Amino acid sequence: MTTSLLRAAADRLRAAGVASPEYDAAELLAHVLGTTRARLPLVETVDPRQAAAFDALVARRVGREPLQHLTGSAGFRYVEVAVGPGVFTPRPETELLAGWAVDAALAAYDDTGRWPTVVDLCTGSGVIAKAIKHEVPLAEVHACELSVDALGWAERNLAGTGVDLREGDLATAFDDLLGGVDVLVSNPPYVPLDAWESVATEARDHDPHLALFSGADGLDAIRALERRAAVLLAPGGVVGIEHADAQGISAPAVFSRAGRWEEVRDHRDLAGRPRFLTARRPRADQSPVEQSRP
Ligand SMILES: C[S@@+](CC[C@H](N)C(=O)[O-])C[C@H]1O[C@@H](n2cnc3c(N)ncnc32)[C@H](O)[C@@H]1O
Repeated sequence: MTTSLLRAAADRLRAAGVASPEYDAAELLAHVLGTTRARLPLVETVDPRQAAAFDALVARRVGREPLQHLTGSAGFRYVEVAVGPGVFTPRPETELLAGWAVDAALAAYDDTGRWPTVVDLCTGSGVIAKAIKHEVPLAEVHACELSVDALGWAERNLAGTGVDLREGDLATAFDDLLGGVDVLVSNPPYVPLDAWESVATEARDHDPHLALFSGADGLDAIRALERRAAVLLAPGGVVGIEHADAQGISAPAVFSRAGRWEEVRDHRDLAGRPRFLTARRPRADQSPVEQSRP
């Protein structure tokens, strides 16, 4: 029963240009039936009401509404967040950046013997902050977001987690944490204003433009993050920032050119594409001489 429904739905989605038709069809059917994709083969009957609900969702996906808007949630590492109109849909590739932040928070604990202070700038749905707090529960996690619409989703997703969520601009956020942050993480807007055509239909039509675009070269937010990270981070503190795959050289160059960072590196995603940069503030115990040694 489900096999024929799924095959027909996947054919419609494929014809509409949806990138992962089988996966999306299965997610939508599982959502309608209140089960999981893995359990779909165990389903024996789909009643007419359920079949009609599934058909309606497939039609909306054919119209390129994001899958996560149709199911109402997005899975990310070990957590889920509610998403919908007004907030950026978390992407699987950002899980790597969040994983780096988790490792960096644990390493900061090993270094200092105290639980670290972590800041997520441009938090959107709150997904990175939520994942870090889930995996490093004793970390002090702060998050900030400029868009009031997105902030509403973040409030919902971070309620009860202990994350300190604030409305604000990344350029001026967390004046009360200056020089005290161990790990700063951000997935900012990074699409060049004229790269409109390169953005997938789902993102162009359903992600807020504030979440996507950032100046002529896409690097305005990353330049502002470099300036803010330099004053927020403690000596030895680290920053990790996602960027577009075409920015594997230009985004880290924002940090290396600033002349106040060590260990500036770029990292690739699972598909081998440049995905995020990391950098470290000099440690307090390093004299200028030691810093300049090879
Ligand atoms: C690409 S989305 C990332 C959201 C979330 N961190 C994630 O990974 O799914 C970028 C977010 O940055 C927010 N934003 C854009 N400019 C900002 C600024 N100047 N200060 C704070 N947040 C900003 C947008 O509203 C959007 O929610």
